[in-house]
Amino acid sequence: MARRVAIVNNKGGVGKTTVAVRLAEGLAKEGKRVLVVDMDPQGNASEMLGWTYDPELKPPTISQAIKANTEGAARGVIQPIGWDAPYAGHIALAPATLKLENRMAEAGLSCAWRRLVTALDGADDHVDFTLFDCPPSVFHLTQLALAAAHDVVIVTEADIYAIEAAKRVRAFVEDRAPKDLANPTLTLRGVVINALTATAVQAEQRDSARRIFGDLIWDPSIKHRTSLAEAGTDAVPLTDPRCAEPRAMFELLTQTFLKAVPSA
Ligand SMILES: Nc1ncnc2c1ncn2[C@@H]1O[C@H](COP(=O)(O)OP(=O)(O)O)[C@@H](O)[C@H]1O
Ligand SMILES: [Mg+2]
Repeated sequence: MARRVAIVNNKGGVGKTTVAVRLAEGLAKEGKRVLVVDMDPQGNASEMLGWTYDPELKPPTISQAIKANTEGAARGVIQPIGWDAPYAGHIALAPATLKLENRMAEAGLSCAWRRLVTALDGADDHVDFTLFDCPPSVFHLTQLALAAAHDVVIVTEADIYAIEAAKRVRAFVEDRAPKDLANPTLTLRGVVINALTATAVQAEQRDSARRIFGDLIWDPSIKHRTSLAEAGTDAVPLTDPRCAEPRAMFELLTQTFLKAVPSA
């Protein structure tokens, strides 16, 4: 079975998707096989990886695998990504579209939170890591991922509200996942500070995050770089020379990931 890692924060826009996709890229460059499971109905990770929904072909998405609620159903929705890079074949995608919203309404059904565990059963044995890109919440879609994950990585900005949201995620992982999601070994492995700028306020908030999360803060923090945002919206890997700086930051962050997250 793959080592499954959920990328979480219940605040939006802090860089969860960017970090999930760029860690997948860094791991692929290290020769690891990675499955990205897009758990956000906005489908940003799917798009960033160069996947597009073709309404003629109607490709399957993670929503169908969750709805099916049968062992290994995710196997049928795993697809190649759209990047042109030598390592692109190391990354596979279980994509999402807005239809994933429909799974929320079923949250109250008996054992609904186990549906992703069931769908992934045997479906990700061929990869080293499965990364869940979660929506900005700790409700049902994120809980599906947290029930299936071994590890959690929080992404935050050096911002008071993002750090408060990160604390709520830690509390959820520690207090509720063991009982409510029957996942007592789920472990917070790291906190990534993203989009750091050289301002006094950010430095103060970064120090505050270090006081709160201590050694869980991963190095390096990811600096705010327009080239990183542009590579995301252009749905391309960080191979362009203009992306040299973010590429180097994520290569280092990948090494931290490999030290902090046990392998399968
Ligand atoms: N380090 C960064 N530097 C510049 N822009 C960034 C950085 N990280 C994320 N962004 C941009 O911020 C926006 C939100 O990032 P995203 O990864 O989608 O966050 P989330 O998944 O938490 O909602 C996107 O437009 C993204 O390109
Ligand atoms: Mg996102």
